[in-house]
Amino acid sequence: MTLSVVHVPLGDRSYDVRIGSGLIDAAGAEIAPILNRPKVFIVTESQVADLHLEALIAGLSASGIEADVLTLPPGESTKSWQYLTQTTEWLLEKKAERRDVVIAFGGGVIGDLVGFAAAIMRRGISFVQIPTSLLAQVDSSVGGKTAINSPFGKNLIGAFHQPRLVLADIDVLGTLTKRDFLAGYGEVQKYGLLGDATFFEWLEANGPAMAQGDKALRQEAVTRSVQMKADIVARDETEQGDRALLNLGHTFCHALEAATDYSDRLLHGEGVSIGCALAFELSYRLGLVSQEEPSRVREHLARMGTKKNLSDIPGDLPDAEALVALMGQDKKVIDGKLRFILARGIGDAFVTADVPMDAVKSLLEDALKL
Ligand code: GLY
Repeated sequence: MTLSVVHVPLGDRSYDVRIGSGLIDAAGAEIAPILNRPKVFIVTESQVADLHLEALIAGLSASGIEADVLTLPPGESTKSWQYLTQTTEWLLEKKAERRDVVIAFGGGVIGDLVGFAAAIMRRGISFVQIPTSLLAQVDSSVGGKTAINSPFGKNLIGAFHQPRLVLADIDVLGTLTKRDFLAGYGEVQKYGLLGDATFFEWLEANGPAMAQGDKALRQEAVTRSVQMKADIVARDETEQGDRALLNLGHTFCHALEAATDYSDRLLHGEGVSIGCALAFELSYRLGLVSQEEPSRVREHLARMGTKKNLSDIPGDLPDAEALVALMGQDKKVIDGKLRFILARGIGDAFVTADVPMDAVKSLLEDALKL
């Protein structure tokens, strides 16, 4: 399989996302051109380290690159002040220099935390993303959003800091649990729904085989997703407009994640899938799409075997009013008004602040009864 390369054109902050098999083994040769000296600082988490760290260190040392490693605990609670402090102090203790490269080796949690540490260390040092989950490969490793969580909500403390390079090794997806793979798939199908009906059709045809493990299909899906993200980020790096399209399904998702205490009851990507189905249902109720569109979204999610309804979330959920209140912390709130991503059809999403909250509340009331 040949490597795919997606360029993210952002002037002097431009970089490539390289997607394919064997990239961890080849990490030394891939990263060497951007190093100032043959040394890197890897920050990872213990589950990824158990599976893939040896291969990464061997891949680096094949090119004569030495690595210091910090291994953090896995899980969302690592995106906190505590581990941000630990990471930055470790880098300082190890004498990471301004022109050195830090490698974020893990899923979205590690990518966001390490990216933020790199953004504030010595007022900004370089970092490379080696994303090991599908969600991180298609979304969080690309575009430079970095953050930790606050008790007030997810990702509320952060910065834009673009990586110098992203290496998305398709082979690592083979070590994900089915649930984690499908959670990442929530972000993949989102790209089709928001801006590319042909891609959504392709996913309807190829999604199940991809979930079964077909590597060529996985590479194509990651590449098409990253290309769409790169195009949007190039137009609107700091989310003044179009970039908010990438949040299709996320306003609902964030409320559901808060309602389930960011626990294992609902993974982020599962919340995105449910949120996309709700966003299409809301679009139907507001007269923007026909009834077939939300049905088609839910059917596809059902065929993939992932979550699509509120009833797929185990345990009790708060009532519709409480869920609407939880949406109030969304980063898309401007002047106290929530912005939603709605659709005029599959592949045709748009951002609007013009959504009657009564319609949102009654949608959630009905969804809670299903
Ligand atoms: N995950 C949404 C974005 O990067 O803008």
